[in-house]
Amino acid sequence: MKVAIVGKGGVGKSTISALLGTYGVERGREVIAIDADPDMNLSSCLGVKNTATPLIELEDLIAERAGGGGLVKLNPKVSDIPDKFYQKVNGVKLMVFGTVWSGGSGCTCPENAFLREVLNHLMLERDEVVVVDMEAGIEHLGRGTGEGVDALVTVVEPDRRSLETKWRIEELAEDIGLAKAYTVCNKVRGVEDREFLLEALQEEPLGFIPYNEEIRTSSRRGEKVSPDDGQLRKSIKEIWAGLVNELS
Ligand SMILES: Nc1ncnc2c1ncn2[C@@H]1O[C@H](COP(=O)(O)OP(=O)(O)O)[C@@H](O)[C@H]1O
Ligand SMILES: [Mg+2]
Repeated sequence: MKVAIVGKGGVGKSTISALLGTYGVERGREVIAIDADPDMNLSSCLGVKNTATPLIELEDLIAERAGGGGLVKLNPKVSDIPDKFYQKVNGVKLMVFGTVWSGGSGCTCPENAFLREVLNHLMLERDEVVVVDMEAGIEHLGRGTGEGVDALVTVVEPDRRSLETKWRIEELAEDIGLAKAYTVCNKVRGVEDREFLLEALQEEPLGFIPYNEEIRTSSRRGEKVSPDDGQLRKSIKEIWAGLVNELS
């Protein structure tokens, strides 16, 4: 199960990536969670300070593998990277890209070639569940990696702008061969929010996550997001089950 979490800034991508990753581990799965958002707040949602080395900072290694001095190797060797550069948090293997991802798929700097190959490797050649906390711009996935993503999960909230971002992302997704797109509705406060989303989406989302005070509090304190609240736990369970069901 290879899942990319995308959506407008602030909709809850990192929160949901952390909750899904932790839930996967609880279910007995091996999970790699990747922070590929320049914002880099997945570790904080998992409740730790960032101690995993952001891959982008491995300058010497990147130069050695992907080349430097103007010559870029497009398929650098990276198969050893995921087992070396991660931090284990509550059973989840966290990797931080520390992304530059500049210039979209057209950019062929060694850093991008390296990061793209790591993602490719994780998507296509590994057995672990992979959850990637991304951003709205998915162009840099590129075709090969895009095809390795089983599910593109766009997070929206009851707000028109997050829906506009979703539609834009899905257009891009088609261009890079991402077949399966799903939606998760977050910060839903009641029936009115739910109806607004259902009406606007014209599709059945994977799940609705309630607006949750515990999430707010943990985020104010910089603490781990944990689904102690029954309703929140129920929605995460439902989303996980929906993904497993769709992808099996
Ligand atoms: N279901 C929710 N209920 C309440 N607050 C939430 C919920 N989901 C996310 N948040 C809050 O919204 C803010 C943005 O969430 P975050 O996961 O960092 O978004 P993103 O990664 O998409 O930028 C954080 O302060 C987070 O605590
Ligand atoms: Mg984030």
